[in-house]
Amino acid sequence: MRIWLSTAMLLLFTFLLVPGAGAATDSATCFGCHGSMEGDVKVEQEKYSKSVHGSFDCVTCHMAPKGDQHQGLGGAAPDKSVKELAASLAHKSTKDPIAQSACITCHPDLYEAYKKSVHGQNVITKKSTDGPVCTNCHGSPHYIQARPSAESKVHLFNVVESCGKCHEEKHMSEKYGFSPLVMERYLESFHGRKLKLGHAGAPSCASCHGSHDIKSAKDPSSPVGNLENKKKTCSECHSGATEKFVAAITHKPLHPIAHWSEIGLILLTVGTFIFIIIHVLLDIYADIRDRLFRKGGNH
Ligand code: HEC
Ligand code: HEC
Ligand code: HEC
Ligand code: HEC
Ligand code: HEC
Ligand code: HEC
Ligand code: HEC
Repeated sequence: MRIWLSTAMLLLFTFLLVPGAGAATDSATCFGCHGSMEGDVKVEQEKYSKSVHGSFDCVTCHMAPKGDQHQGLGGAAPDKSVKELAASLAHKSTKDPIAQSACITCHPDLYEAYKKSVHGQNVITKKSTDGPVCTNCHGSPHYIQARPSAESKVHLFNVVESCGKCHEEKHMSEKYGFSPLVMERYLESFHGRKLKLGHAGAPSCASCHGSHDIKSAKDPSSPVGNLENKKKTCSECHSGATEKFVAAITHKPLHPIAHWSEIGLILLTVGTFIFIIIHVLLDIYADIRDRLFRKGGNH
């Protein structure tokens, strides 16, 4: 009898206390406003629920949404690692750096790799807003799809576009000193053309550079950072790639000799055309002159 009574009391307590004691707000509460708002702050419920994170409450990432409108709404307190990262991302992630940093609680390995990458260093160490955070490559955090889906921003056929958002920007290559032709040269290469035709065996940017651990091409630990690594990277698809073979792929402008022979060829062609045209004109002139003189009967 006593046991029943205490159990009942306990249940009652739990029932009464837990919801009051800072329980996590469920998504329905957030959708109550954000499901029907206008602009960026609208979250489409249907699309959200079909994303990889669709079963999570909003507060799994938005642990402490700011502003009066969110009084009393929120989730678990962010732990130290999330708070630290949020502080170092705040210049890049202006809406809710806590949410942007929440990814590391469930994807810690990817974050570790990202932190050491040329991109992570750019954002976290150099405090720049140029480099990507997770959502610059993966798209809106609310609608992420797993890679087999063609809607995934990092699906094999979408990677080039996702990297291109920054790498085809001239001001980026000027500021950081990498070749401005990276995208152009890739798209006109065998690889770029094959991928565009829907060939699943063709390499995207990530096949040669990696994804979360991307290093500068001058860094010897990059998969394209030295001859041995290049051979290994190319060999994944071209078995036994040799030194001569790996030199075939570069995003740099054509070699000076190739470049000047190309220009030479163009000059030669144009020159020949001009020569032929002048020749023909002179011929016509001579012809007209001859006829005129003959008509005059001077000869
Ligand atoms: C009572 C309505 C209401 C509810 C409920 C609500 N929000 Fe908001 N939320 C707003 C308004 C209003 C804004 C400001 C929109 C703007 O700036 O244009 C906003 C802005 C935001 C922003 C952007 C922050 C910024 O600085 O612009 C985030 C993130 C956010 N809400 C998350 C949430 C989450 C998560 C929940 C559920 C726990 C939630 N909201 C519940 C009304 C609401
Ligand atoms: C997987 C983590 C995650 C979940 C779950 C999540 N969000 Fe977000 N949300 C983010 C991130 C990251 C941002 C971008 C924050 C930034 O860059 O400052 C964001 C941004 C927002 C913004 C501001 C958008 C803008 O551009 O102004 C709103 C509003 C918002 N979220 C509402 C919600 C609501 C409502 C839910 C639940 C239905 C939700 N979020 C679930 C991660 C998440
Ligand atoms: C520079 C662009 C870029 C950034 C930044 C980035 N990712 Fe990715 N991510 C990718 C690409 C590309 C793939 C697909 C890799 C593949 O198919 O081999 C991927 C795959 C993934 C996957 C699934 C595959 C796996 O390895 O488990 C997850 C999960 C993921 N990313 C989460 C994150 C998180 C979390 C962050 C931030 C810490 C992040 N990504 C930052 C480009 C990026
Ligand atoms: C509460 C845990 C949790 C949080 C927080 C979280 N994720 Fe995820 N994420 C998952 C789970 C679970 C999956 C589905 C299983 C998988 O593929 O790993 C997933 C899947 C993904 C995928 C798709 C992987 C694929 O297969 O292509 C990406 C990309 C991703 N998450 C990125 C992010 C980003 C970016 C953030 C922060 C804005 C984030 N996640 C926050 C748990 C989480
Ligand atoms: C077949 C492998 C391969 C593919 C695919 C590839 N790259 Fe590269 N990338 C390289 C190699 C090798 C280098 C070394 C430098 C060079 O020779 O141009 C490099 C260098 C770079 C550099 C530094 C260039 C510089 O001037 O310092 C950037 C940036 C880059 N790649 C971005 C990309 C992007 C973005 C894509 C996708 C559009 C891509 N790469 C696709 C192999 C590849
Ligand atoms: C939000 C913009 C942005 C996106 C998206 C992005 N990058 Fe970058 N990337 C940068 C910036 C900025 C740098 C220069 C960082 C620095 O040096 O501090 C860089 C540097 C690089 C480098 C090193 C260049 C060198 O010096 O050798 C490579 C390789 C690279 N990115 C490849 C990629 C690939 C592959 C993707 C897609 C999976 C990608 N990036 C997506 C902005 C971006
Ligand atoms: C993910 C797989 C993959 C990787 C990695 C890769 N390639 Fe390729 N490569 C291909 C495919 C597919 C073709 C098109 C083959 C065809 O048309 O028959 C191709 C074609 C080529 C061609 C055109 C001539 C030929 O042999 O077909 C050259 C040259 C080439 N690759 C060089 C490289 C170099 C150098 C690297 C390393 C920096 C590299 N590839 C990395 C898949 C790859």
